[in-house]
Amino acid sequence: MIKKYAQIVIGSLFIVAVMTLPVFGAVECSQCHGAWIDKVSSKRVLHTPFISGECSGCHLDHGDSGELVLVLDGTDLCLKCHDNPEREFREHLSGENGCLPCHDPHSSEEKSLTVGSFDELCMLCHGSIVKASYVHQAITYKGCRECHTPHGSALGKMLKAESDQICSGCHSVLTEEERPHSALSKRGCTSCHDPHSSTQYRLLKHEYRSDLYPGPYEEEKYSLCFSCHDSSLVTGKDLSDTGFRNGSINLHAVHVLGKVRFTGEGFTVKGKSRSCANCHDPHGSVQAFGLKRFFECTETVCRKITFFPEPDGGRCLTACHERASYTRQGS
Ligand code: HEC
Ligand code: HEC
Ligand code: HEC
Ligand code: HEC
Ligand code: HEC
Ligand code: HEC
Ligand code: HEC
Ligand code: HEC
Ligand code: HEC
Ligand code: HEC
Repeated sequence: MIKKYAQIVIGSLFIVAVMTLPVFGAVECSQCHGAWIDKVSSKRVLHTPFISGECSGCHLDHGDSGELVLVLDGTDLCLKCHDNPEREFREHLSGENGCLPCHDPHSSEEKSLTVGSFDELCMLCHGSIVKASYVHQAITYKGCRECHTPHGSALGKMLKAESDQICSGCHSVLTEEERPHSALSKRGCTSCHDPHSSTQYRLLKHEYRSDLYPGPYEEEKYSLCFSCHDSSLVTGKDLSDTGFRNGSINLHAVHVLGKVRFTGEGFTVKGKSRSCANCHDPHGSVQAFGLKRFFECTETVCRKITFFPEPDGGRCLTACHERASYTRQGS
């Protein structure tokens, strides 16, 4: 009701402006485009230079040609009146018609003269970003504007705030006492997670098996970890491959490949292969090396891992085996 009333008021203001102001443009233009102007002015939001009859702010007289002739091309037309460096309008779609995919130059039903809602605009060109099977619920519930600006940002990627700050606005993956995995502190959440959607569970960028016994070892099952770490920490025989070894025995191999029998040249594998998730938390931990304090929790009990780092190895107390220690010496 109020909207309707406002439309009538704005509509009549426009007619008054057209009738009383001898502005070049509207009067001349309305002689032949009156019906079009009426139709376009009936929308809810009207662009100031349009409603004030300043057609010539953007259009040149087309003479007999009857063609669209603008005073400036592309983004320059809009930036003639809107260039404000702080707003960084120039960033997102510079070049030809950079504003028009999203804004109507005359009027619109949406605020800020947009041709659709914020998300509808983004989807016009970036629809594929949410095509994968797991879509981040921040998008489903809140939309693109939760994290992005439409025009540009000093932080890059049109982000409203630093990427990790945005994430911690809704998620806290570590407590105060827990030390973060360097992947978080140095490379940020998006080094492992896609902020939009993924074919992997937990929006992961690569495969990561976190079930405790994920079947025979295959490198691909931990592609996520091996996108930064060398897989030789599991399969390597050299002393430099991993610190998790007892003398020359690679203890990552022992645990991750399965029960290992060492032979002269190498080893044969028997028994279950264990995932990294038996021992490591991908985000960090109070214990050294991101070692979890608990694993395999049921409703009543959690199996515990207590780790004592030592200068040249370490000691573990776990539910899997009682105290066990390793030392890199004596190899
Ligand atoms: C003497 C009549 C007349 C006047 C005055 C006039 N136009 Fe036109 N205009 C036409 C005709 C005829 C066409 C071609 C047919 C059409 O597309 O409507 C046209 C086409 C246009 C087009 C291209 C439309 C399209 O769909 O591509 C624009 C833009 C336009 N006029 C803007 C203006 C503006 C702005 C003014 C005022 C500065 C103006 N016209 C004044 C008659 C006029
Ligand atoms: C802020 C700049 C601006 C102002 C002010 C403006 N126009 Fe336009 N107008 C444009 C642009 C840009 C286009 C081309 C739109 C496109 O290509 O989608 C256009 C297109 C048109 C068209 C073609 C039909 C259409 O819907 O695209 C007509 C007719 C027209 N304008 C008339 C007018 C009249 C009459 C006025 C004054 C009452 C006016 N315009 C004021 C920028 C402006
Ligand atoms: C002749 C000067 C002029 C040109 C050219 C111009 N604008 Fe505007 N625009 C204005 C004025 C004046 C306002 C109202 C004051 C303000 O909000 O800054 C405005 C307001 C706006 C708004 C805010 C509307 C609202 O209701 O919040 C948008 C969006 C906008 N213009 C987009 C554009 C786009 C896109 C173009 C290029 C097609 C453009 N402008 C070209 C003068 C112009
Ligand atoms: C990708 C779509 C998109 C493009 C491209 C775009 N805008 Fe916008 N613009 C928007 C949206 C969405 C809003 C409303 C923002 C909001 O509601 O927070 C907006 C708001 C505005 C506003 C009013 C609010 C403000 O920030 O002052 C102006 C003026 C404006 N745009 C001008 C422009 C100009 C000029 C260009 C081209 C250089 C442009 N826009 C390009 C989507 C876009
Ligand atoms: C008309 C098509 C179009 C629309 C609509 C559009 N974009 Fe874009 N966007 C592009 C193109 C093309 C690029 C790549 C060129 C560039 O980096 O400027 C891009 C780049 C981006 C980037 C990367 C910028 C960077 O710094 O690397 C982000 C983020 C983005 N768009 C977000 C959005 C959001 C959010 C919306 C909705 C408000 C949106 N886009 C609407 C075409 C579009
Ligand atoms: C939870 C926050 C969040 C939401 C919601 C969000 N994004 Fe993003 N987006 C980001 C972050 C963070 C980046 C930067 C990623 C990076 O640097 O790897 C980004 C980057 C982008 C890029 C650039 C892609 C590239 O690889 O450079 C585009 C395009 C984009 N987003 C579009 C969208 C669209 C469209 C929507 C809505 C459907 C959306 N975003 C919703 C956080 C978000
Ligand atoms: C506006 C709030 C919001 C922001 C900001 C946000 N998220 Fe989310 N995120 C959610 C909600 C809601 C869920 C679904 C509920 C849950 O699992 O906690 C979710 C789920 C997730 C999941 C688990 C997905 C799954 O399959 O269970 C990951 C991983 C995630 N977000 C990462 C991020 C990252 C990385 C960022 C920063 C780029 C971020 N989130 C920013 C709200 C947000
Ligand atoms: C080294 C890679 C990596 C980094 C960096 C990372 N994550 Fe994760 N994240 C994972 C993995 C792997 C899982 C799945 C763990 C599982 O299911 O056992 C996960 C799970 C999640 C979940 C689902 C709930 C949970 O705790 O299991 C959320 C939410 C999440 N991450 C948010 C974040 C945020 C926010 C950041 C940045 C502060 C971040 N992640 C950084 C690898 C990472
Ligand atoms: C984005 C890169 C990245 C990814 C992905 C990644 N890490 Fe890391 N990780 C690092 C960096 C950087 C360090 C610091 C030591 C170094 O430079 O090797 C580190 C160190 C570690 C450490 C030693 C921790 C300490 O306190 O010294 C462990 C354990 C670890 N990562 C486990 C994992 C596991 C398990 C995964 C898979 C879930 C993984 N990482 C995925 C980058 C990554
Ligand atoms: C049985 C528990 C256990 C499992 C399973 C396990 N780790 Fe570890 N990992 C450790 C311990 C203990 C250390 C500390 C070694 C030391 O004292 O330097 C470690 C150290 C690391 C380091 C630091 C560099 C190094 O090799 O010493 C990385 C990276 C790492 N693990 C990644 C992984 C990845 C990736 C997986 C899965 C493919 C995995 N771990 C599986 C216990 C485990």
